[in-house]
Amino acid sequence: MCGIVGYIGQRDAAKFLVEGLHRLEYRGYDSAGVAVWQEDGIAVRKKAGRVDELAKLVANEPADGSVGIGHTRWATHGETTDINSHPHTGGNGEVVLVHNGVIENYTAIRAQLQSLGYVFRTQTDTEIVAHLIAHHLEEQIRLGSDPSEVQTYVDAVQVSLKKLKGTYGLAIVFRDHDDLMIVARSGSPLVIGVGEGEYFVASDASPLIGYTDEVVYLADHELAVLRKSGLELSHRDTGIHTPDIQTLDQVSSDIDLGSFDHYMLKEIFEQPQSIENALRGRINEDEATAIFGGLNMDPQQLRRIDRIVLTACGTSWHAGLVGEYLLEEFARIPTEVEYASELRYRNPPLGTRTMVFAITQSGETADTLAAMRECQRKGHPTLAICNVVGSTIAREADGGIYLHAGPEIGVASTKAFTSQVTVLTLLSLFLGRMRHMSYPAGQRIIRQLLEIPSQIEKTLQCNDVVKEVAAKYAEANNFLYLGRLYNFPAALEGALKLKEISYIHAEGYPAAEMKHGPIALVDEHTPSVFIVPRCGIYPKVLSNLAEVKARRGPVIAIACEGDEKIAELADDVIYVPDVEECLQPLVTSIPLQLLAYHIAVLRGCDVDKPRNLAKSVTVE
Ligand code: F6R
Repeated sequence: MCGIVGYIGQRDAAKFLVEGLHRLEYRGYDSAGVAVWQEDGIAVRKKAGRVDELAKLVANEPADGSVGIGHTRWATHGETTDINSHPHTGGNGEVVLVHNGVIENYTAIRAQLQSLGYVFRTQTDTEIVAHLIAHHLEEQIRLGSDPSEVQTYVDAVQVSLKKLKGTYGLAIVFRDHDDLMIVARSGSPLVIGVGEGEYFVASDASPLIGYTDEVVYLADHELAVLRKSGLELSHRDTGIHTPDIQTLDQVSSDIDLGSFDHYMLKEIFEQPQSIENALRGRINEDEATAIFGGLNMDPQQLRRIDRIVLTACGTSWHAGLVGEYLLEEFARIPTEVEYASELRYRNPPLGTRTMVFAITQSGETADTLAAMRECQRKGHPTLAICNVVGSTIAREADGGIYLHAGPEIGVASTKAFTSQVTVLTLLSLFLGRMRHMSYPAGQRIIRQLLEIPSQIEKTLQCNDVVKEVAAKYAEANNFLYLGRLYNFPAALEGALKLKEISYIHAEGYPAAEMKHGPIALVDEHTPSVFIVPRCGIYPKVLSNLAEVKARRGPVIAIACEGDEKIAELADDVIYVPDVEECLQPLVTSIPLQLLAYHIAVLRGCDVDKPRNLAKSVTVE
C-alpha cells in the first residue's frame, strides 16, 4: 500500500520518479507526488488522483534536478486531497519525505510537536515524521552539530525513528544537503537499485527494471544513507554493515502490457505459462513425487508433521482452502486455513509437529507477515508460498516455495491464485507420497498435473462465450456463486473477483448450504453461477441448481465439455475441459476470472485499479 520511489545521481530525477510511480501505481492510486532538490529549495509537485495527473502537473511545472523522491498513495489517514498527498514537508522546509505505512502513535507526537510550535497542514500521520525529523535536526544543529555533515542528518533521523510506533518505509531528502537521501524501513518494503554513481529506491523492484539489475533489499530496522558516491547501510541493533547486493532477474517484458487492454486480461491469458513455471523442475516422475529445494526440513521432520495450518488473506486464503482439501485427501494430514488477520491475534494451540505455511502473492501483506512472525515467535517452523522474490515474507520465512508466476500487476489476483493451487497440489503430492499415497496414485496426479497448462490453454478459448454471457448479465446487482467440494473455494474466488472489479455484490457459497439462507436472495434478477463439472456428487449439485431454477433464478453453469444435460437446465453454459476432480479449480476459475473481467469492462470500471483497493496491503 502506497508506493515509494527515490533517485540520487546525475539523471533527470523527475523522469525516473514519475515513470517509477506508474509502475508502482498498483500499490495505491489516490494521489501522487514528487519532490526534487533544487538550488532554491525542494520543489514539491503533488496532486490528488492518478499518476497521470501528476505527470501532467510535472510537464506544466517542471521540477529539474538529480535528487528526488516520489509517492503514490493509498489513503489511510486523511482524505484524498492535494494537501494530504505526499511528499510532506517538516519544520521550515528543511526536511521533505515520503512514507509507506501507518504511524500508530501519531496523535501523541503531533500534540507534542504542536506544543513546540510546529504547524500541521494535513490530516496525515506522515506529517508528524517530517516535523519530528526537522525538530531533531534543529536540535542537533543548536547543540553544535555541523549542518554540512551527513552524520548530523543521520542522527536526527535515527533519534526520530526510535519514537515511532507502527510501520514505515521512508525516503527523506534535505533542503540543506544536495547530495543526500536517507531511506529506512520497519514493516514496509524498500529496495535500493545500485548504479554507477547513482542509486534508485523503490517499494518493489519494478521501477528499477531497465535501470539496473543490482539491488539491495532493506531489512526491517535498517537505514541506508545514499550519496552519489556511495551507499552506507546500518541496522538499528548491529550498526554499519556491508550491503548484500543481489541480482534482479526480471526483464521489461514482464511488466509490458503487450497487446492486451488490461493487465488483468494479460495475466489471465498467461496462466498456461505461469502454471508451467510453477511445475518446472518440481516433479520426480520416477518416484511419483514432487521435489522442493527450499523447504529447509529433512525427511524425518517432514514425516513427523501431524497438522498443517495455512494462513493467508483474500485470494490467497481461497487458494489455501483448496490446499486444505488437497492436503487432507492426499497426505491425510489435518489442515486448517486461518485468516492471517485473525491468526495474528488468536492464540490457537499449535503443537511441536504443526507446520505453518503463509500463502501470499506479494510477500508483503501486513496481516500475513504478522501471523507468520507470531507463529515463529512461538517456535513453529513457518514456511511461505510466495510469488515475489526477495519480499519480506519470503526472506523471513524459515523456508518455502516460490510461485515463479512473474509480476502480477492487475490488482485483482488471477495467475497467482492458480499458481498457488498448483504449488499446494505439488506439496500435497509430496507429503502424501511420504505417507499413504500409492505409487500409481502419485503417477496419476503427476500425469494430470502436467496436462493442466494445455487444458488451461483450451479453457481460455471460452473467452468469446464468456463475453456474450457477461453482456447478458452485466446489469445485475447481485450474483450468487455456488460450487461444492473443490469448487467451493473456486466459487468464493469467483465472487470475490466480481465484487472487487465490478462493484457488484456477490456471494460465494457451498451449493448445498445455499438452502440454509442465501436461497432467499434468489429471484429472476439474481443470477447464480453454478460450478458443476463432473464429479462424485454431480447429481447433487444438479439438484441444488434445480432448486434455484424452481425459484426463477437465472443460472450460468460452468460445466464439462460434452455435458448436454446441463444445457437443458441452465440458461447459459460455459464449457471447460474435463479434468481430475482435485484439479478442477485450476480450470473452473478461468471462466470466473473472465466473467468478472468482461462484466467490469462493460460497466466501465477501471479493471486494473479498482476503487478503494491496492495490490499489496501493507497496513493492518
Ligand atoms: C484479490 C486480491 C487480494 C489478495 C490479498 C492477499 O484479488 O488480490 O484479496 O489476495 O490482499 O494478498 P497477498 O497474496 O499478496 O498476500
